[in-house]
Amino acid sequence: MNINNFINKDKKLLNHGHHGGEIYNSSLKSSHQVLDFSTNINPLFTHDLIKQSYMDSIYEISKYPDTYSTDLRRELVNYFQNKITIKNLIVSAGSMDLISIFCDTFVNLNDEVIIYQPTFSEYTWAVQKNKGKIINVYRKPEDNFQINSDSVIEEMTSKSKIIFICNPNNPNGLLENPRDLIKIIKIASEKDILIFLDEAFIDFCGESNSLVSNISSYNNLFISRTFTKFFGIPGLRIGFGVSSPEIIDLMNRFQNLWPVNSIAQNIAIKMLRSSALIKETLKLISEEYRFLLNELNQIPGLKIYPSQTNYILLNLESTGFSAPELKIKLLKEGILIRDCSNFEGLDNYFIRINIKTRDLNKKFIASLKEIMRSENKI
Ligand SMILES: Cc1ncc(COP(=O)(O)O)c(C=O)c1O
Repeated sequence: MNINNFINKDKKLLNHGHHGGEIYNSSLKSSHQVLDFSTNINPLFTHDLIKQSYMDSIYEISKYPDTYSTDLRRELVNYFQNKITIKNLIVSAGSMDLISIFCDTFVNLNDEVIIYQPTFSEYTWAVQKNKGKIINVYRKPEDNFQINSDSVIEEMTSKSKIIFICNPNNPNGLLENPRDLIKIIKIASEKDILIFLDEAFIDFCGESNSLVSNISSYNNLFISRTFTKFFGIPGLRIGFGVSSPEIIDLMNRFQNLWPVNSIAQNIAIKMLRSSALIKETLKLISEEYRFLLNELNQIPGLKIYPSQTNYILLNLESTGFSAPELKIKLLKEGILIRDCSNFEGLDNYFIRINIKTRDLNKKFIASLKEIMRSENKI
């Protein structure tokens, strides 16, 4: 039997890209020995809060979870101060799930999808899986990788069907101007183009920068959000999408039944109520960004890209190190960074680091400076 003859011919076979957080890699002795600066997760892990909700939820696992996460959607309506309704919401197993369902719902053979690169690589995977045609447009380092709304509008053609925009973008972390985004969304709507707006990191910038509260004004906008990054629970796999009731209804029909387990649904509700964690995180990230910026600026040749979220993109070219070289050297010190060479549109001089607590940031800076010193780079 040749199993390849059995494959669904309407779908394309692809591998996923490499991402941060390769702590399960067998070359690392133990994930606990590695300080992971490669993923963009909130370092304030709320152990006690999670433990309590976990224990409270444990008895619920003997029944199926609510497939539509009704309680969590109600809590989200509260969180967004009734500016959205329960019908604007879909809950999913992380925002990766939303990217996949969105493309399964809307991408057909040869549909043109514009992606602003470099960005999260799984948009490409989800579009190509459905045999859509990717149109890559490149953000420029000299613009700090920010998109330009006038250029985005010019890039829309009669063949464009969907545009993916990540705000703030991964890997650079710079926030787009909400007015520019609104201009793009309005013009796209006139041209019958759907916008997928990935706000996976927007919580770090404050809700006023999110377009969630404006959702009722747009019929062509889908926003993906996640509990992974700001609430620091990637292992639970939970996110949510916000859009028009029509788009949500269509996507519900492409989603699996029972996509999110009851423990994750309950913990997400507790997370939304944890205003102390939210405040503390925003304070920590802005203080630690300034600390890291000051320290990194002391390293000659290091190009630092501005960020408004919990990670920083760096270009190493003038230091004489490539990203893979520095990654290996830091790994010997027990620190894992994100080598960004595999981001479409970046070369092998870019790395991304996660902003953590002061003691961990100090360890990272000390190791980085030591490596630079030992190679006479500073
Ligand atoms: C921009 C962006 N969107 C979405 C995701 C997927 O996150 P999750 O599926 O954990 O919500 C990631 C993960 O790295 C990301 O960087």
